Amino acid sequence: MSEATTSTHTTSDGLWRWLIGGLAAGAAILGLLIAAYAIGYHRGQHHARTATPTQPTTTTATTTPTPPTTAPSTSAPVPVTAALVAQGKSLYSSDGCSACHSLSGSAGAGPSFKGVAGSSITLSTGQIVTADDAYLEQSIANPDAQIVKGYRAGVMSAAISSYDLAKNPADIRALVAFIKSQK
Ligand code: HEC
Repeated sequence: MSEATTSTHTTSDGLWRWLIGGLAAGAAILGLLIAAYAIGYHRGQHHARTATPTQPTTTTATTTPTPPTTAPSTSAPVPVTAALVAQGKSLYSSDGCSACHSLSGSAGAGPSFKGVAGSSITLSTGQIVTADDAYLEQSIANPDAQIVKGYRAGVMSAAISSYDLAKNPADIRALVAFIKSQK
């Protein structure tokens, strides 16, 4: 009996050792897993914390380059002063505009200047535009850019090419002032 009890004691001891060893190993693995999870979690938090402040800096960066400085200078309105109208009137004769553009309202080789400023112009494309300062300036500087419906491209550009008006914005402004005075 005593022999049997010792043998059972040794087997149970061995079992206990295995159990304790297994538990210790399991605890160690669990501890490692918890530690790894904790580190990962903290890293994730740190990443999240560093990622969030970038959003306000990008929004402030996009709002800063908003003021455009070129827009007002190109579309400056042409004043209808007596001096500018007189200068435009002499150019209307000397640059040959009078050959094609009447002041009476009757159409010639080109549309009449009477009442053209501010009116609605139907272009050859079917598009309807307002004859504002920018349109009138463009019509003189680059006559073939937009063609009035019922007229041909190349007629005006060929007739005035020698005056090189595109390089003379002061003359164009004077001519626009004169056209605007023809109501
Ligand atoms: C040989 C004839 C001819 C001469 C010269 C001429 N033009 Fe024209 N012009 C035209 C014709 C044709 C058109 C219509 C076709 C177009 O839009 O280019 C026109 C259109 C215009 C328009 C647009 C009018 C509208 O109703 O939309 C303006 C402004 C204008 N001319 C200004 C001038 C000025 C300023 C001069 C003188 C520097 C001039 N033209 C000389 C034939 C001429």
